[in-house]
Amino acid sequence: MENQHTPWWQKAIIYQIYPRSYQDSNGDGVGDLQGILNRLDHLQWLGIDAIWLSPIFPSPMADFGYDVSDYTGVHEIFGNLEDLEALIDAAHQRGIKLLLDLVPNHTSNEHPWFLESRSSRDNPKRNWYIWQDTIPNNWLSVFGGNAWEWDELTQQYYYHAFLKEQPDLNWRNPEVQEAMFNVMRFWLNKGIDGFRVDVLWFIFKDEQLRNNPPNPDYTRYMPDYDQLLPVYSTDQPEVQDITRKMRSVLEEYEGDRVLIAEVYLPIKELMVYYGVDNKGAHLPFNFLLLSLPWDATQIATTIDHYEGALPAQSWPNWVLSNHDRPRIASRVGAEQALIAAMLLLTLRGTPTIYYGDEIGMRDVAIPFNEIKDPQGLNMPDKNLSRDPSRTPMQWDNTKNAGFSESTPWLRLDKAYARVNVQEQKNNPHSTLNLYKKLITIRKTEPALETGNYISVHSDNQMIAYIRKDENGPGFLIVLNLTHRPCYFKSNFNGVIEIATSPELEGYTVSGTISLDGDEGVVIRLKGN
Ligand code: GLC
Repeated sequence: MENQHTPWWQKAIIYQIYPRSYQDSNGDGVGDLQGILNRLDHLQWLGIDAIWLSPIFPSPMADFGYDVSDYTGVHEIFGNLEDLEALIDAAHQRGIKLLLDLVPNHTSNEHPWFLESRSSRDNPKRNWYIWQDTIPNNWLSVFGGNAWEWDELTQQYYYHAFLKEQPDLNWRNPEVQEAMFNVMRFWLNKGIDGFRVDVLWFIFKDEQLRNNPPNPDYTRYMPDYDQLLPVYSTDQPEVQDITRKMRSVLEEYEGDRVLIAEVYLPIKELMVYYGVDNKGAHLPFNFLLLSLPWDATQIATTIDHYEGALPAQSWPNWVLSNHDRPRIASRVGAEQALIAAMLLLTLRGTPTIYYGDEIGMRDVAIPFNEIKDPQGLNMPDKNLSRDPSRTPMQWDNTKNAGFSESTPWLRLDKAYARVNVQEQKNNPHSTLNLYKKLITIRKTEPALETGNYISVHSDNQMIAYIRKDENGPGFLIVLNLTHRPCYFKSNFNGVIEIATSPELEGYTVSGTISLDGDEGVVIRLKGN
């Protein structure tokens, strides 16, 4: 049999950094690239393998960097190209890969491409964006309001799925495709190890621009955008061809460069993004744990559903939090956040950790007059601001949590003097040390890193599953997703390697396992 090659990203633990909020090195209250470089010790100590940076490109910051005005530069607030090159080098020296955010669906309205496109109807770049004489349909912007914006100068409307400052590119135009593939090559030539592709499922729109149907499940507490089902404005079949082409661009390079795709779709539709013969995205992000109610039965069922739906030879992945969604600790509470960590780091598939989750950072209430996020500002009555999950990293108990010399761009959690990296490093019971132990065991035990997933039991309180490979009995993971004690009647024998209550570590288990509320264990099974 041919020797199977396991690409690094299947064994990797990915860590997402929101650069504005990680570490400020020049005292302007905003995080930067030099700051990230200064914190690589933390990431190496934690044991992560790859960093994904949210956008660091020049941008007017209407959507905090997701409105790019130059795809091949660095915003001065984050530093310059040399700083990025230094970060790539420093990360690589430590064996850490670096992934960039690629934002292909839209540019900033200040990008030279759009400035040209809007300058006249016969400009060669006119067709790089989506222009119409009249509003052709009912499509809504994700950030509120109509998705078509009138342009006074050339007397036409342009389409923007997000802010009006983020006009959508016309991906039906081969020149746009080539331009974006060249952006990818620019960064791949600099040694970037791959991309996280922003809103990949948005890039193609229905050719006839037909109306979206109403969403029968809409309630007024939901974002305005959810009034319609985006069946014609997103997830069009043509996107698969582009995904394959993006993948081919990566394959022009050595070193298993990785393509991760942001796709919020139900399981069946999500699987399509792996592509025919797995030639699409390597990892279409799996956001199930971000979206599901924290309910043992539902989660267990969904894990099996996801595992069962994966195309042959494709590799799973899991996410608990990101810069668009509430943090796990705020969604499920501090105690269950430990169970969530154990789940994330023992499931089969590449885990992505959102910065700060490793110390149990929670969403921070940002006073109304300090809201920065356009989604929050545009729909002020719906509590949709994403600022709460983007607050500065809490490093220590000094001024501004060690994040910055000056007032941070977004306020810090007032609990930072208690909840911070330095404090938790010294506390064997901390969230941070649980993360560290889970990461260490995952990286030293092939059963956990790449072994099979076998579901064993679930009920309305708990989930139990085994991870094993051909070399041994593997590990049994038992998680109590409630605050009340529970029992698992099993015939398994083994030793508790890691527990949310470290007091349990080293204990032998045989037969029925009883767990306190909010307790989870990783058990090394005994053979025979
Ligand atoms: C993605 C990003 C989000 C951004 C949006 C528009 O969903 O994660 O932060 O606002 O795309 O680019």
